[in-house]
Amino acid sequence: MRFAPLAILTACSLLPTAFAGTYSISDTYIGSSFLSGFVHEAIADPTHGRVNYVDQATAVAQNLTYAHGNTFIIRADHTTTLSASGPGRNSVRIRSQKTYTTHVAVFDIVHMPQGCSTWPAAWETDGSNWPNGGEVDIVSVNDQSPNLMSLHTSANCNMPASRTMTGTATVNNCDVNTDGNSGCGVQAPTTNSYGPSFNSNGGGFYAMERTNSFIKVWFWPRNAGNVPSDLKSGAASVNTANWGTPTANFPNTSCDIASHFDANNIIINLTLCGDWAGQASVFNGAGCAGSCVDFVNNNPSSFTNAYWQFNAVRVYQ
Ligand SMILES: *[C@@H]1O[C@H](CO)[C@@H](O)[C@H](O)[C@H]1NC(C)=O
Ligand SMILES: *[C@@H]1O[C@H](CO)[C@@H](O)[C@H](O)[C@H]1NC(C)=O
Ligand SMILES: *[C@@H]1O[C@H](CO)[C@@H](O)[C@H](O)[C@H]1NC(C)=O
Repeated sequence: MRFAPLAILTACSLLPTAFAGTYSISDTYIGSSFLSGFVHEAIADPTHGRVNYVDQATAVAQNLTYAHGNTFIIRADHTTTLSASGPGRNSVRIRSQKTYTTHVAVFDIVHMPQGCSTWPAAWETDGSNWPNGGEVDIVSVNDQSPNLMSLHTSANCNMPASRTMTGTATVNNCDVNTDGNSGCGVQAPTTNSYGPSFNSNGGGFYAMERTNSFIKVWFWPRNAGNVPSDLKSGAASVNTANWGTPTANFPNTSCDIASHFDANNIIINLTLCGDWAGQASVFNGAGCAGSCVDFVNNNPSSFTNAYWQFNAVRVYQ
């Protein structure tokens, strides 16, 4: 009995270490719960794409948004030929109702938009306080390049040249006012992280962990042998300490994460052309002929595979 207080003290002092990577489920988005948990944003595309983002009623009526059972799909229109002087191709951008600070977000993705001109993204930001509230790009790709994970911040956020991760750093300064707002990016090492090979593989899992000491992103193809069992099963709690080396690692050694990131929404978008994917070097470089905008206007059937399909998005806190 007389040793009990000491035993309790010891147990308590071990807690922070033992539970360092443990999180409990806070939100599960599956099928129709995407319709209540996310807002369709019918806004002008901030990246000047050849798209016309529609509201939820329009998206559901046109079957651009489809929620049934465990399936949730958002897509660009693939039937309409556009007038060059009219609005862009109908598409969908959704933003979570809730915002999150420190958390883990797991994206169980079956299919991501592919094809000439497509520029899909799954990311987090505070749209009313950009860039001071930060931006984390978890998936941001077109057909041409492997997935790029990146942070976009206000000044004084830099990443160390040497970090423990499987991806390859492109730029180490996260400040949006440097390097043409490229952000501090990390390229995934494998081509099955994006586009056609991601899709033909049945997709996979992206996960992002945000703490005040680091932001990490992991990717596992669906058929990989090392997909963590808690993540794969959608367990009620996950322990990121068992998830292995991240694909991208953004530590706080020269970036105070707590002050560069505020409460962020999850955003999933699909634009066409625009500031990045619409550049001739990017569009033609991806093996697509002519001009990006003409292509979008005149080739509806090329957008058959321009869709996101999710099994689930889960948030743990
Ligand atoms: C889509 O996501 C990217 C993140 O990679 C973001 O920079 C861009 O502003 C978004 N575009 C649209 C059209 O929402
Ligand atoms: C709507 O889209 C879903 C998913 O792509 C598809 O299975 C379904 O047949 C479509 N419904 C109609 C009426 O076209
Ligand atoms: C990194 O984050 C930890 C935990 O919040 C904090 O104790 C530490 O001071 C931070 N390091 C730097 C260099 O900001």
